Amino acid sequence: MTNNNPIGVFDSGIGGTSIWKAIHDLLPNEKTIYLADSKNAPYGQKTKEEIVALSKKNVDFLIEKGCKIIVVACNTATTNAIRELRADYDIPFIGIEPAIKPAANNSKTQVIGILATKGTLNSELFNKTAEMFQNTTIIEQVGHGLVQLIEDGNLNSPEMTKLLESYLQPMIDANIDYLVLGCSHYPYLIPQIKKILPDHIQIIDSGEAVARQTQNVLREKVGLSDLAGSEPEFYVNSNPAVLESILEYKYPVVHKDF
Ligand code: DGL
Repeated sequence: MTNNNPIGVFDSGIGGTSIWKAIHDLLPNEKTIYLADSKNAPYGQKTKEEIVALSKKNVDFLIEKGCKIIVVACNTATTNAIRELRADYDIPFIGIEPAIKPAANNSKTQVIGILATKGTLNSELFNKTAEMFQNTTIIEQVGHGLVQLIEDGNLNSPEMTKLLESYLQPMIDANIDYLVLGCSHYPYLIPQIKKILPDHIQIIDSGEAVARQTQNVLREKVGLSDLAGSEPEFYVNSNPAVLESILEYKYPVVHKDF
C-alpha cells in the first residue's frame, strides 16, 4: 500500500457524492474511487445484519481496487456497520454520523432537529451520542421516502416538497434553531429545505468535517498523495443516469454488477 493508492468512498447510492465532493475539493491530488450501491438502496429500512453484509461487499470491491483508506459516506452504514468493518479489515475507515455536537453546542433555543434514516436513528451509535446532550431537546424525524425519490431522480418533484414540509413543519413549530442533515443524500435537498425553513434556522451537514478527518488520518497513517491529481472513478450497479446527472456530466460512470 502506498500513499498514492486511491481513497475509496461508498454509499448506498448517489448521496455520498456530497461527501466525495468535499473530499475532492479539499484533496485534489488524491485519486478517488466512488461506489454507489444503488441497486440495494435505500439501506435505511434494512436490518443491521443486512447493512453490515452490504457494507462488507462494498469494502471488498474497493479493497480489490487498491484503496488505501475507505470513507463510509453513508450515515446508515456508519452507525450500523463501522465497528464490524474496523474489526474485520486492516485498513483505516472514516465514518459519517449526524453532527449533533456542533448543533447542540451552538443552539440558543436548546432545541435541534435531526432528519435521518430509520436505520441511523435506531442505531446504538446514534443513540449513545444523542444521550450525551441531555440539556438539548433533539427532535428526530425519519426521512421516509426521501432517499428513494433522490435515487429515482425526482429531486424537485411536488412529492418531495410535500414530504419535506411534513417533516420540517413540526420542527419549526418546536422552535429548533439548527437542523442536522443526518443522511448524505440530504445535502442535495438544501435548496428546497431553505425554502421551507425560516432564515434563522441553520442547516448542518458533515461533508467538510469528513473531508478534514480524512486528510488528518491520511497524514497520520498512510500518507497523502504526491500525484498531481488524477481522474476520479465512479461505479454504480443500477442505471447510471441519475449518478451522471448529479455529477453534472463531468465524469464517466461505469455500470458494474456488484
Ligand atoms: N445516504 C445514506 C445515509 O447517509 C443512506 C440512505 C439510505 O440508503 O437509506 O444514511
